[in-house]
Amino acid sequence: MVKTKIAVLVSGGGTNLQALLDAQESGLLDAGEIVLVISSNASAYALERAEKAGVPGLVYSRKDLGNQEAFEAAISRALEEYGIELIILAGFMSILSGDFTRQWPRRILNVHPSLIPAFCGKGFYGLKVHEAALAYGVKLTGATVHFVNEVPDGGEILLQRAVEVQPGDTPELLQRRVMEQAEWLLLPRAAQMISEEIGKGKET
Ligand code: GAR
Repeated sequence: MVKTKIAVLVSGGGTNLQALLDAQESGLLDAGEIVLVISSNASAYALERAEKAGVPGLVYSRKDLGNQEAFEAAISRALEEYGIELIILAGFMSILSGDFTRQWPRRILNVHPSLIPAFCGKGFYGLKVHEAALAYGVKLTGATVHFVNEVPDGGEILLQRAVEVQPGDTPELLQRRVMEQAEWLLLPRAAQMISEEIGKGKET
């Protein structure tokens, strides 16, 4: 089967990108191939991870490009140039407009570090999500992989996994546990599932 061409969009450390690259290396993600990494931030460590894995990395900053439209137009051009079929948001901290997401129905995945619909939507990203979970006092949190539509964190849920909050947790400790026990497992699994689905669609 021809591999589904994947672009991973990042903004920071890129541990979820790393989990995808590792899954590709170990054969867990064999229906798709990561052919492009796009970062919204020039100093993202994720770009080094891409380089080490031999995957081209591009940087597009909304601020430098002037506005959302120009930012998304630049991303769209790159996606087209690389023949991308599946977009994975892996710690991508920019919200994409409805104009953009409507062009990619069931073709954009996002990983979010909570059990949606808890602690999600505008303003809930990165450590803030874990701060909110601890402030609320939940005993279970987790991660969600979902399709992306025009509603922030509002698209159809694909996979979820629960993770226990431990006494004495800090946002950083909880973030790490959610990544280790949920995000780094779910995201490669979802990437494989949807890559397979796209591959099968091309055969018929
Ligand atoms: C991850 O925990 C991811 O779920 C979260 O940011 C972190 C990025 O880490 N994403 C969001 O909060 C999106 N709403 P990484 O750069 O090491 O993958």
